[in-house]
Amino acid sequence: MCGIVGCILKDDKKDVAPILFDCISKLEYRGYDSIGLATFDDENIHIKKDKGKINEVNEKLDLQDMAGNFGIAHVRWATHGDPSKLNSHPQVDENVEIAVVHNGIIENNTKIKADLEKEGHIFKSDTDTEVIPHLIEKFMDEGFDLEHAVRKTIEVIEGAYAIAVISSREPDKIIATRKDSPLIVGIGEDGYYLASDSPAILKYAKDIIYPERDEIVILDKSGVVVHDEFDNVVNKQIDTINWTPEMAEKEGYDHFMIKEINEQATAVRNTLTQRDNIKNIIDDLGDIDRICFVACGTSYHASLTGKYLLESLAGISTDVILASEFKYSAKTLDDKTLVIFISQSGETADSLKALDIANETSKTLGIVNVAGSSITRRAKYVIQTQAGPEIGVAATKTYVSQLTAIYLFAALLADDNDLLDELYNVPDYIDEVLADFEEVKILSNRYHFAKDFFYLGRGYVYPTALEGALKLKEISYIHGEGYAAGELKHGPLALIDEGIPVVVIIPPGDAYKKTMSNLEEVKSRGASVLAIGGSGDEDLKSKAQDVFYINCDVGELIAPLVYIVPLQLLSYYVTLEKGFDPDKPRNLAKCVTVE
Ligand code: F6R
Repeated sequence: MCGIVGCILKDDKKDVAPILFDCISKLEYRGYDSIGLATFDDENIHIKKDKGKINEVNEKLDLQDMAGNFGIAHVRWATHGDPSKLNSHPQVDENVEIAVVHNGIIENNTKIKADLEKEGHIFKSDTDTEVIPHLIEKFMDEGFDLEHAVRKTIEVIEGAYAIAVISSREPDKIIATRKDSPLIVGIGEDGYYLASDSPAILKYAKDIIYPERDEIVILDKSGVVVHDEFDNVVNKQIDTINWTPEMAEKEGYDHFMIKEINEQATAVRNTLTQRDNIKNIIDDLGDIDRICFVACGTSYHASLTGKYLLESLAGISTDVILASEFKYSAKTLDDKTLVIFISQSGETADSLKALDIANETSKTLGIVNVAGSSITRRAKYVIQTQAGPEIGVAATKTYVSQLTAIYLFAALLADDNDLLDELYNVPDYIDEVLADFEEVKILSNRYHFAKDFFYLGRGYVYPTALEGALKLKEISYIHGEGYAAGELKHGPLALIDEGIPVVVIIPPGDAYKKTMSNLEEVKSRGASVLAIGGSGDEDLKSKAQDVFYINCDVGELIAPLVYIVPLQLLSYYVTLEKGFDPDKPRNLAKCVTVE
């Protein structure tokens, strides 16, 4: 949802453009509508920008060939104005004396623009961002220095922002600030860095500062200073990132998505190390009579599995609410409700808004993959999933890590030692499924012509059906719907027609027989059934057109952690068959920082 970076090098004579390009390339998962860089050299700001993916624009403009030892860069996920050169960032004032990159939305931009136009400012783009360089220009014209012109600007703008600013009127520094959009500051050996997310700067800086809302960050070649609203220097804690640069590389895989699917056993294993932390949280929670999960998208599906686990194992009444709808339930919260926020990025705007509401009345727990992200800083308790950086837009290894944390939480809460023991076998089960990837490739070849897909699951694997369908639609653009297997006959069965693929998730367990009846229902109406079933289930062979066997002993209780793997692979290979890039689905971005 747009990515920004900034860098100032200690060495005056070294050009920053290759580093800016490298850093911003690592954020392409945040937006691929356009890319742009601004550097300062020879008294002037120089800008190269255009619409298109990074490599396309780089081939045209040679983005690494720009002089100057400091600058800013941006990748865009368009919100206001088409993807076009004019709407690309950096955005500038009339005289190109101020350049700004921005992640977020300025909600009152129309009014500000109208006011500035009356004062003679001329706007060239359709972006909300363009008001920022014009406001900074206005305040600098009134006599404020760059830092205070930025401070005055953020008093005027409303909405969410992380911005980085350079100016030829006051060169040799970068000013940055944020509200409700992520921003980290990196302290490296050769220079100082700003970025929306850590993969951008893993290669250059390990020491990280997290600016809080409306703090002003000043980077120059001698260091980083952070000011609060009264111009006091804030003594910021310096954290160290424990991710390595290689973790954010494809490492020989064709795409990040398939690399991350293959890292799932490790992600589960590493997340199981959170067991003691989770136990401590549970011990500290005190009296809880209701749990409420809040999340979006894939994280919402992980949460739904949490409801099944907590209600069936621990007998705790559990709700799952989409973050964007949460405020309508706020009155039901009290101090005996634990509100659990599940998020890969820890920066999802809808979840952050909900967290602020929940913090007013209830205990809050974040289950988050990105260390230092906003949810980890605002929730009372935090469980950090240990998936490592996830670059593919479609969540895979973070999903199984979220599930792992939820399983640990539920098993510890319910004192279920059998389940706890079984969780340590899950990495092996996942690897066994991955070993059969060639079979999924063959299935993808058979099914990729379909226009619609249905996914059915019952009980624990109903959320797995929803997640399988989401994975398919978001990267292959094939319409996919997940349903509770028993619900189909209450309406959607009307859509089942000759040859329509229906993926039936049918692990051994209590729900097996009823799911089998639902399989028969769709089969008798002409559906082409692809069953995902347990090893040795010979019955499935005669009932389904195709069967993918989970060749290990996985019962329905832990099936969500394992049965999702062939569904992720199916989406990946179907997408390749269709010729699309699974890492960069159209219209989507990895981190959704707007409501
Ligand atoms: C789908 C996907 C999204 C995210 C959703 C929430 O593959 O990744 O549906 O799950 O945007 O994001 P987080 O988990 O970062 O809050």
